[in-house]
Amino acid sequence: TLGPDVIDVRALGGSGYFTYDPGFVSTASCNSEITYIDGQKGVLLHRGYPIEELAQHSNYLELSFLLLNGHLPSPQEYEEFSKTIRYHTMVHEQLVNFFKGFRRDAHPMAVMCGTVGALAAFYHDSLDITAERDRQISAHRLIAKMPTLAAMCHKYCIGQPFVYPRNDLSFAENFLYMMFSTPCEEYLPNPIFAKAMDRIFMLHADHEQNASTSTVRLVGSTGANPFACISAGIAALWGPAHGGANEAVLTMLEEIGDDSEENIQRFVDRAKDKDDPFRLMGFGHRVYRNFDPRAKVMKETCDEVLSELGLGEDPQLKIAKRLEQIALEDEYFVERKLYPNVDFYSGIILRAIGIPTNMFTVIFAMARTIGWVSHWNEMIANGTKIGRPRQLYTGPELRHYPAKQD
Ligand code: ACO
Repeated sequence: TLGPDVIDVRALGGSGYFTYDPGFVSTASCNSEITYIDGQKGVLLHRGYPIEELAQHSNYLELSFLLLNGHLPSPQEYEEFSKTIRYHTMVHEQLVNFFKGFRRDAHPMAVMCGTVGALAAFYHDSLDITAERDRQISAHRLIAKMPTLAAMCHKYCIGQPFVYPRNDLSFAENFLYMMFSTPCEEYLPNPIFAKAMDRIFMLHADHEQNASTSTVRLVGSTGANPFACISAGIAALWGPAHGGANEAVLTMLEEIGDDSEENIQRFVDRAKDKDDPFRLMGFGHRVYRNFDPRAKVMKETCDEVLSELGLGEDPQLKIAKRLEQIALEDEYFVERKLYPNVDFYSGIILRAIGIPTNMFTVIFAMARTIGWVSHWNEMIANGTKIGRPRQLYTGPELRHYPAKQD
């Protein structure tokens, strides 16, 4: 029932109904042409192309062009796009001083929120969001500079000098090079690792209106600059219910420790116990009520990488597979349609590559940057109203401030 204080939202461009939808379970906040998900069937399409086909035949830069521009690039467009991204890989040298202000034991996601937001202080020349040229330059800068900033976070945390980008390398190779090279020893990217890294970037590139993308859109709807918007997206991604899950999965697998049935069952039982806050990390999804198609590709990639490295019997992979099996046969998980999500297997691959656990969510942020900027750009190009959710007020009724006794 509508109370006397409910505004007729038709006057504000609404549908006429005032809806209460905590967690936005059934509210669409926008139109978008970028990504389609059918959660019941386990389908994910980017600009119409299935994620499985893209993961097999495309690469992260090509997918980035597709997400941003709406079509697959011609060979010439691809060449130009990849040249442009390479051109922007360096960051302003003053950012080095900015890094030095952080504690070395800071979580890299905290450093990323700060340094990516700070890009707005260095790149004033592309901040007119009404100009398509500026939006494109900012998008290119963000895609290109995120790996550089991410690798700088890692180097800073471990007390090594920063490594400058090498533009003769591919996007994934360059990231690994900046992560692992030192002045004493140049790291030559292992092609198996580079391929796996690129696949991880593709599988995380976009996922329509998830919490971090919705955050980017909400911040962007106020007219804020793109660097501020992406910094807000990074903050939203950090939580363990969202991007922080990839780090949490590995912590959970370490805690489980061995793949004996009774041991794993103990953790599954804990996840079912409503008095225990523990959840199976990497399980469940707001939209998928079926297998997350990205999780299937991630699992295959994990098997491929570990067998190519001769690590097919990796103990954590064994625990993960057994855990998946036990959970998927358990009534609790079946009833609630809880399946492994994209991050259930990604951490095992990242660990095999040598990426430290505290960098997992940073890698997710790097990969998701193209999704964030594509949505931001689509929203600004189409024109938008400021995002302003309503609430149901449940506080006290009108009362008066007590008269003061002199
Ligand atoms: N372990 C145990 N139970 C779970 C889990 C889980 N991982 N996920 C959901 N449930 C249960 C809930 O307790 C709830 O049970 P109930 O109906 O008896 O109360 C039911 O399943 C529905 O769960 P909700 O939390 O209401 O589902 P929601 O859509 O709000 O949450 C989320 C989705 C946050 C992903 C949740 O499944 C979760 O916390 N998963 C673990 C964290 C994780 O892996 N996050 C990554 C998500 S994917 C991504 O961001 C890349």
